[in-house]
Amino acid sequence: MSSPSTTIRFTVNGEQRLLRVPPMKRLFDVLREDLHLRGAKEGCGEGECGSCSVRMNGELVNSCLVPVLQAEGATIQTVEGLAPNGELHPLQKAFLARGGAQCGICTPGMLMAATQLLARNPHPSMAEIREGLAGNLCRCTGFVRIFESVVAAANSSEEHAQQAAHAR
Ligand code: FES
Ligand code: FES
Repeated sequence: MSSPSTTIRFTVNGEQRLLRVPPMKRLFDVLREDLHLRGAKEGCGEGECGSCSVRMNGELVNSCLVPVLQAEGATIQTVEGLAPNGELHPLQKAFLARGGAQCGICTPGMLMAATQLLARNPHPSMAEIREGLAGNLCRCTGFVRIFESVVAAANSSEEHAQQAAHAR
C-alpha cells in the first residue's frame, strides 16, 4: 500500500512550489524526482558525506536526512539556484578554474557549503574554510584545490564589490 500524501508548500530557488508527496519522503528525493532538480548527489544516504547538501532557511542541511514534511514553508536553495540564468556563480567559476571539481560527486554539496560559509563570513581564513567544509567529503581532490577555489571566489567577490564602488 502506498503511503498517504500530504500537501507541501515551499520556496525553491526563489519559486513557490506546491506538491502532493508522502510526508516522510526525503527532501533529496523530492528535489530530484518531483522537481527535477538533480544537482544534489547521493553519496552515503546517511548524513556523513554532504554531497546532498542544500540550504534550507539559511542553514546547510543534508537533504538525505530531511523528511519533506520538515520543509513545509521553508526557503530552499539548491545548487541550481546558484546559476539561475545560466551565468555561473563566482564559486562555480573558481571551482572550474582551479580544479576544485574532479569527478563532481561532491561538488554540488561543496558549492552549497561554501555558499553558506561565504554568506556568513565573506572573508574566511583557511582554517575557517576547512571548518566550514568539514561536513563535506571529497575522494578525489585532496581538498586543497577546493579550499583554494573558495579563497579565489571570496577574492573575486571582493574585487567585484570594489569595481562596483569605483564605478559609482
Ligand atoms: S548523501 Fe546525504 S550526507 Fe551523504
Ligand atoms: S571531486 Fe570527486 S568526490 Fe570530490
